[in-house]
Amino acid sequence: MTFKQADRLKGIPMSRTRVMLRKCQELRAAGEKVTALTLGEPDFDTPEYITMACKKALDDGLTKYTDSTGPLELREAICRKLKRENGLVYCPEEISVTSGVEQGTFAAFMSFLNPGDEVLVQDPVYLTYTTIPGIAGATVKTYSLLEENDFQPDMNQLRSLVTDKTKMIAIVSPGNPTGSIFTRESLEAIAELAREKNLLVVSDEIYERLTYGEKDEVVSIASLPGMKERTILLNGLSKSMAMTGWRIGYMAAPPELIDPLNRMAFYMTAGATSFAQYAAAEALDGDDGSAEKMRLEFKKRRDYLVGEINEMENFSCIAPQGAFYVFMNIKKTGMKSEEFCDYALEQYRLAMMPGDVFGQCGEGFVRLSYAASRQVLEEAVCILKDIDHEISQKMV
Ligand SMILES: Cc1ncc(COP(=O)(O)O)c(C=O)c1O
Repeated sequence: MTFKQADRLKGIPMSRTRVMLRKCQELRAAGEKVTALTLGEPDFDTPEYITMACKKALDDGLTKYTDSTGPLELREAICRKLKRENGLVYCPEEISVTSGVEQGTFAAFMSFLNPGDEVLVQDPVYLTYTTIPGIAGATVKTYSLLEENDFQPDMNQLRSLVTDKTKMIAIVSPGNPTGSIFTRESLEAIAELAREKNLLVVSDEIYERLTYGEKDEVVSIASLPGMKERTILLNGLSKSMAMTGWRIGYMAAPPELIDPLNRMAFYMTAGATSFAQYAAAEALDGDDGSAEKMRLEFKKRRDYLVGEINEMENFSCIAPQGAFYVFMNIKKTGMKSEEFCDYALEQYRLAMMPGDVFGQCGEGFVRLSYAASRQVLEEAVCILKDIDHEISQKMV
């Protein structure tokens, strides 16, 4: 029997991040020790006040379907969070809870892109953003985030990419894999372009609470004049509250946008897991200080990793302002990103993500996740020093 996959999946590859994770799993299964800086997942446990709230929801029998957009108490808690932390005013009817930001991204692209439409996406970027528009039959045009430009968008380039088919601009800030935060000036320029060309904006703010505060404040583009009505704001609890497995995200958008999003999301999951949602309301309203503790620990790890890398001869990086990734420049080695990562894994059992996984502009970089324990980071630094030394020796 032959079953042909749907045409819309042609050319849609399995995520290369999964390929790297599988390689690590295979090595570990064979008894090898692998030092991995691959995962975009906090190594902390979910704070106890949240797991307690989940247990209570289970004990209270809150195990039935919820409203497909999320229980009112969670949507109200999200509105309070957006007001308190982002200065944004939404009502509960403008919020839709999703199974992670991943579902929100899928719903946003599938609800508003037709075949032939164009969407502007940053490069490098989390893979979902260059993959899902293709499933919708739309074309991705990438705008470059270059290290020499502090990983900020170049507005001349961005403008030059707009055609009469352009429907949307996607923004991920703080970014994965760069950790860069779009400055207020960059966001104002993007907002101006969106208003002028009547574009929708999808703003992924999942790392918005994980910032290290020396340079840039995090601004939600939805807070800029005339932007709420054209923005689909995506956020969630996976990263900032160590809740990746709970699968809780949300979309915030005005009625004209949330109605199609709700219809699309309904046919995907008919709602997120009930007890995880009740616990998420507690996660947003309550605060036992653990989120801030995690953020401060990430900052320490970032400072350590950045300091060590910039002492090495063949590698360098700029200090990321947010998220939990360092985007390390390996251009001096003369190796391609994938070649470098394969070599580090094969010879030293150090796993990292090749930068080109995230787009052409990521070539010559590798992504190191510092959502790993201090011990793992120290091991990784020792290995990187060995690799650095070996490369320098070869160069003489
Ligand atoms: C930029 C970005 N958006 C969305 C996601 C997925 O988030 P969630 O776990 O909420 O689906 C990730 C995960 O790595 C990410 O880096």
